[in-house]
Amino acid sequence: MNASSPSPAQNQASPATLYGGVTNRRVTVRDLAAAKQRGEKWSMLTAYDALTAGVFDEAGIPVLLVGDSAGNCHLGYETTVPVTMDQMVMLSAAVVRGTQRAMIVADLPFGSYQESPAQAMHNAARLMKEAGVGAVKLEGGERSARSIELLTEAGVPVMAHIGLTPQSVHALGGYPVQGRGDEAAHQLLRDAKAVQQAGAFSVVLEAVPAELAKQVTEQLAIPTVGIGGGPDTDAQVLVWTDLAGMTAGRVPKFVKQYANLRAVLGDAARAYAEDVRTGAFPAAEHSFR
Ligand code: KIV
Repeated sequence: MNASSPSPAQNQASPATLYGGVTNRRVTVRDLAAAKQRGEKWSMLTAYDALTAGVFDEAGIPVLLVGDSAGNCHLGYETTVPVTMDQMVMLSAAVVRGTQRAMIVADLPFGSYQESPAQAMHNAARLMKEAGVGAVKLEGGERSARSIELLTEAGVPVMAHIGLTPQSVHALGGYPVQGRGDEAAHQLLRDAKAVQQAGAFSVVLEAVPAELAKQVTEQLAIPTVGIGGGPDTDAQVLVWTDLAGMTAGRVPKFVKQYANLRAVLGDAARAYAEDVRTGAFPAAEHSFR
């Protein structure tokens, strides 16, 4: 084997499927590229701690995103804006420790990359060196292309995020659907092509009309990951607390709730409190002799 020929591990980079096809190493960007080639759709979930990340890893979810949605889904903030680099490093390290197979992608939070490509590189390196993640995600299309270029040249796999970019919530005045109308649709296509040209290995399309997400997916060589982008993207992502029914109150239209953990946990807590009040817990079997 010479220096330019692939190692045995690299040769395994195109498993038959992402589900169950990779067992003894982490999923890589090459596996995701191969999945697009063969038309295999894949799923991504957010994770913010070792315990839940381990559950999703065992379930075979190939990519886990330590999203800055941790701000509103895990840390009690109203938006993603207050999330800091130190918080992202801490949460990402926990997710890496709790998993063996999934590719771990971590968000660069608001204010950690917009100043310059050098700032983006500094903070991406923190996520890779201190937390051990395999890739970073950042928001913005054309406006983030220079940073994506520098990161990818430096060996940092970058997932881009266009359409609705939640870090811009105050500028957008909320979370409106993006890409409606000719000009906005053309801008979305320009953004998608710009991040691909800059070297992104994948791009999240958030809250865009399904037909537009389909067009972008057909025109890009890299995989698109939809959230509120309809059925035709290469992959889908959901925030785990939405999927599991942990989120209090309304969830966005694009969410499908697969469980009702909020009710299950609430019921367990109420039953425990009642047992303690009545003396039913602890019983003899929970006590030492
Ligand atoms: O932070 C996050 O969870 C995200 C997803 C919504 C894609 O960016």
